[in-house]
Amino acid sequence: MRVCVIGTGYVGLVTAACLSHIGHAVVGVDIDRRKIALLRKGLSPIYEPGLDRMLQVHMDAGNLSFSEDAESAIAHAEAILIAVGTPPRTDGHVDLRHIEAALRTIGRALERASDHGARLVVSKSTVPVGTARWMAEWFRASCSGSDIVVVSNPEFLREGNALQDCLYPDRIIIGAGDRRAAPLVQRLYRPILEQTFPTPDYLPPRPEGLRRVPLLWMDWDSAEMAKYASNAFLALKISFANEIANVCERVGADVTRVMEAVGLDHRIGPHYLRAGIGWGGSCLGKDLGALIRLAEHRGYDPLLLRAAQATNAHQRRIVIEKLRASLGSLRGRRIGLLGLAFKPNTDDIRDAPSVAIARALQDEGARVKVYDPVAMANMRAEHPDLELIYATDPMDLARACDALVIVTEWEEFRQLDLSELRRVMRGALLLDGRNFFDPEDARRAGFTYVGIGRPTAVP
Ligand SMILES: NC(=O)c1ccc[n+]([C@@H]2O[C@H](COP(=O)([O-])OP(=O)(O)OC[C@H]3O[C@@H](n4cnc5c(N)ncnc54)[C@H](O)[C@@H]3O)[C@@H](O)[C@H]2O)c1
Repeated sequence: MRVCVIGTGYVGLVTAACLSHIGHAVVGVDIDRRKIALLRKGLSPIYEPGLDRMLQVHMDAGNLSFSEDAESAIAHAEAILIAVGTPPRTDGHVDLRHIEAALRTIGRALERASDHGARLVVSKSTVPVGTARWMAEWFRASCSGSDIVVVSNPEFLREGNALQDCLYPDRIIIGAGDRRAAPLVQRLYRPILEQTFPTPDYLPPRPEGLRRVPLLWMDWDSAEMAKYASNAFLALKISFANEIANVCERVGADVTRVMEAVGLDHRIGPHYLRAGIGWGGSCLGKDLGALIRLAEHRGYDPLLLRAAQATNAHQRRIVIEKLRASLGSLRGRRIGLLGLAFKPNTDDIRDAPSVAIARALQDEGARVKVYDPVAMANMRAEHPDLELIYATDPMDLARACDALVIVTEWEEFRQLDLSELRRVMRGALLLDGRNFFDPEDARRAGFTYVGIGRPTAVP
């Protein structure tokens, strides 16, 4: 199938690469000329494990390309996927201006198209309930000469694991307005639904036992709501773990053991129950906020959702409270943040706890040193107002610090020599915001270890 993906960000680029891997001829387009220039040289503008290799393989094979000429790519496509950003507006509602611009581009492209066969327009962006319905009406009114089938196909990939999530999804959700979508969607996703594509040798193997991926058909509105409901539930789980952590601390229990026990109950499951300094990233906070705004707008007060949001905001402040409790005033203190990305295996720092913590520390008069294996360039570019000292490696970060805060649990930090880190520091405080290190190991290395929801003293 000839496919055009509009928007080559975290979702669009991964989707374009994976669709080329399963056999489609894909063109990715973007209004960001810098991204397209990089991509045309075979370079990924984002860090995502395996993505560089997948781009290289399929660009070399000739079934994946990138273009600034969106209209021409769209005019030739049988399936057009929209994966543009949907950030929040200042009033909390979703800003749909990129979606609107994408529709206008599609409209102009279809005027030029010589082939008037049925085309599938797939909305992958996370959009408010009612958007796909509105899109279908817009096309009916604006492109009456074209046969356009709009589906809502919310994306569930996780950054850092995006290629596997795209090729081996738990389910594919399709919200459709009528039956014309079925054969087009089947053509687009059959290799994933039936798992018939070759497993890339540069990714972990296909999950054992995966033979078919469930395809869920529903109406447009339910598909759009399913995305918000999923993200709200994940946010709720993390906030729940954090709430329990805060109680654990006050009663002397260890939240890591408590959640291990809770998660083994198959009715609950082990995922998203790690206590720490809260969620971040471009999705959970944004989507939870949008759902709250939507509910309020329709006259419903979503108490539980608002509580999850408030718990997360509180969790970020806990870092400052814990530092103050150990160090007193933070003025003039040198604090090292180990990790900046909102989670490991990505360079994404959108709504990352590191940003809020760095800003709060700066407001307290502290000097903030930072280190991250891949996210420092984004931090420099997106937050030039923060006066951060960028370290070259974790040891350089620790040097002369009064405290070290674990902000992102990068697996490579496991190899760190804790005694050596402690030796080059001025103070002894290790504030483990991700409950990443074994408290005993840290104490043996000479640290005063403080976790989240863990006993602070040796029992
Ligand atoms: N990032 C995630 O983990 C994730 C997961 C699931 C769903 N989503 C949703 O997917 C959507 C995209 O998210 P993202 O993280 O990939 O965003 P992003 O900001 O990384 O990428 C969006 C891209 O779209 C481009 N763009 C904007 N307007 C355009 C236009 N008119 N024509 C062509 N390109 C245009 C931008 O330049 C950018 O490169 C959002 O709705 C998001 O909520 C994101």
